[in-house]
Amino acid sequence: GSSDDSAKGGDGGSGDKIVLGFSQVGAESGWRTANTESIKASADAAGITLKFANANGKQEQQIADIRSFITQGVDVIAFSPVVTSGWDAVLKEAKDADIPVVLTDRAVDSQDTSLYKSFIGSDFKLEGKKAGEWLLKQYEGKNEPVNIVELQGTTGSAPALDRQSGFQEAIKANPNLKIVKSQTGDFKRADGKTVMEAFLQSEKDIDVLYAHNDDMGLGAIEAIKAAGKKPGTDIKIITVDAVKDGMTALAAGEINFIVECSPLLGDQLMQTVKKVKAGESVEQRIVTEETTFTQEQAKEALPTRKY
Ligand code: AHR
Repeated sequence: GSSDDSAKGGDGGSGDKIVLGFSQVGAESGWRTANTESIKASADAAGITLKFANANGKQEQQIADIRSFITQGVDVIAFSPVVTSGWDAVLKEAKDADIPVVLTDRAVDSQDTSLYKSFIGSDFKLEGKKAGEWLLKQYEGKNEPVNIVELQGTTGSAPALDRQSGFQEAIKANPNLKIVKSQTGDFKRADGKTVMEAFLQSEKDIDVLYAHNDDMGLGAIEAIKAAGKKPGTDIKIITVDAVKDGMTALAAGEINFIVECSPLLGDQLMQTVKKVKAGESVEQRIVTEETTFTQEQAKEALPTRKY
């Protein structure tokens, strides 16, 4: 992966500054761009030397990037794992090298939780639940079949798994609500568009689209318009994230509801990194605080929205 070292004065050593190796998933979405910016800005503000690697959505690359951080002997490693499984070996290598690891944004399924110090990020299952509960309310007291299509995030990633299960659990309360198609769009706008095109061709009657992130929802909106339908009206749309482009579409009536997922994890990460380096104890799990947005709330929030 491309490694850009944002350290200033780089003489190999960095004095007494903490060196943090951060392995990012990729640049798949507006959320990810905002997350990367948050991490870089917060490292700068905290006086932490950041070694940043972008894995372009590939687990092998992420593992290679983490190994390279271990070889370089960074003080702390943080990463956002692309998928949940397959991390035990490299986490063990970090532990053996006495380099503490902090997870941000996404979880791993490792049974041995001593392999990392803390996990900072959203409750994705709760996000899915909030999406499902909103939909449940829309059809309260109605007795009609509701055909839902789902655009899943990256296969095997924590947000895709949890947003799917949280949503499913919530909509169970009304047996009329049925997921008729569900496929991955890899959290990307272009994939959201092509998968939605296929959904529209195979399903005559789509009432609702649930997209695991704004970008896929925005791609799907293009497909819906191209099929001569009105997004937000002919097909109700629920997404997750609440990045600027998503909020703009929500305010414009093309999305109906967004569950917030905050990408601004940088400050909490840097605080945790400092504590871990100082040998202080940290919370094993730090959950991000988040809200939801209706169309009216999006109009209010947009002017001051930072990302
Ligand atoms: O892990 C967080 C998810 O990853 C965001 O919801 C999505 O937009 C991103 O790609």
